[in-house]
Amino acid sequence: MWFTVALITAIFFSIASGQNAFAGAVGFGAAATGGNDGTTVYVTNLNDSGTGSFRDAVSESNRIIEFNVSGYIELASAVSLSSDITINGQTAPDDGIGIMAGEVSASGQNNIIIRNLRIRQGTLDSDTGKSAFNMGDTSNIILDHCSFEYGQWDTVDAVGAVNITVSNSIIALPIGQQFGAHVETGPSTFYGNLWVSAHNRQPLAKDNTQYINNIVYNYQAAYTTADTSGDFYHDIINNYFIAGPSTTSSGDAFFQVNAGQTVYASGNFIDSNKDGTLNGEADNTVGGATVASTPWADTSLNMAMLSAAEAYTSVLENAGATPRDEVDSYVVSLVKSLGTEGAIIGSQDDTGLSNGGYGTL
Ligand SMILES: *[C@@H]1O[C@H](CO)[C@@H](O)[C@H](O)[C@H]1NC(C)=O
Ligand SMILES: *[C@@H]1O[C@H](CO)[C@@H](O)[C@H](O)[C@H]1NC(C)=O
Ligand SMILES: *[C@@H]1O[C@H](CO)[C@@H](O)[C@H](O)[C@H]1NC(C)=O
Repeated sequence: MWFTVALITAIFFSIASGQNAFAGAVGFGAAATGGNDGTTVYVTNLNDSGTGSFRDAVSESNRIIEFNVSGYIELASAVSLSSDITINGQTAPDDGIGIMAGEVSASGQNNIIIRNLRIRQGTLDSDTGKSAFNMGDTSNIILDHCSFEYGQWDTVDAVGAVNITVSNSIIALPIGQQFGAHVETGPSTFYGNLWVSAHNRQPLAKDNTQYINNIVYNYQAAYTTADTSGDFYHDIINNYFIAGPSTTSSGDAFFQVNAGQTVYASGNFIDSNKDGTLNGEADNTVGGATVASTPWADTSLNMAMLSAAEAYTSVLENAGATPRDEVDSYVVSLVKSLGTEGAIIGSQDDTGLSNGGYGTL
């Protein structure tokens, strides 16, 4: 029932504030309109390029991209999105659509909506300097119900990105540098995401940030500011940080945060005992941050409808691309062990999943 309430509330707030990416869109990327005024273009094969391919579909602006095929598109090189694009992965039949073996890049573009897309870079991409999703210098972008795994540089690289939302998504099992997301410039919103088995950057927030209802599992360091690019404001509300086998210091849920950062923290929990039960303790002391008594962003409290424990249930049920596939099911199963399963990995192979670790769609 709480989920229904949250959904209705989210829809209400999206209408009330004139946000229009889709019903329920939240945060700084929610005003993106994508390709809504343009034409619908169908991806009709899984080819890397050519007529009917994803690469061809996203090569021009003012498009809504839909899918007549399901399965993995194996990239031969990074694919660049155009501005004013909507990608509706949920239109794919059967098991849905995934992109593997290369970076998807929105670099330098503006006004993008992406939903229900799986992006799994992995070691089949020989360019270790690339990420699963690159939104460097991108503006007005919302990524919702997406699944990002096996990123090499960052999973989501958002250096120089302005007005961004990552919501209801899975950011898991990074390889290479083993990082989650890196944001500079902003503002950014991270809402209702599941972050699993990263060394650090969940996210690295060098911007004004909303971080609400996230679940972070098996972290070495989670919410990080690093303090080297300036002083920012952070609303950190109703998140659950859960230690796993790779967690050496559960207090690193908040990492490298000094008094230059101003933080409103409320309703956060850390479960540090790895005992197979969700039984964390409240922890709203964010490093050495300057404590704010009210959020900096006026939408933060309305967005925080679920407690951290409610978010755990909701996020495990709903995060990531629909329908949930082999890789995401594996990721969620690790979290449900609540401390006993999970590792920070070097290759998708290490998961033991089918298709060389990419899973089968
Ligand atoms: C897609 O790739 C296959 C295999 O290389 C090829 O036979 C087919 O012609 C391609 N389709 C298009 C529309 O280019
Ligand atoms: C793709 O799907 C759309 C919508 O159902 C349909 O109109 C179109 O003909 C399909 N294209 C192909 C090549 O199957
Ligand atoms: C970001 O969003 C704000 C508020 O809607 C808007 O004023 C600003 O122009 C946007 N920035 C960019 C680069 O689009």
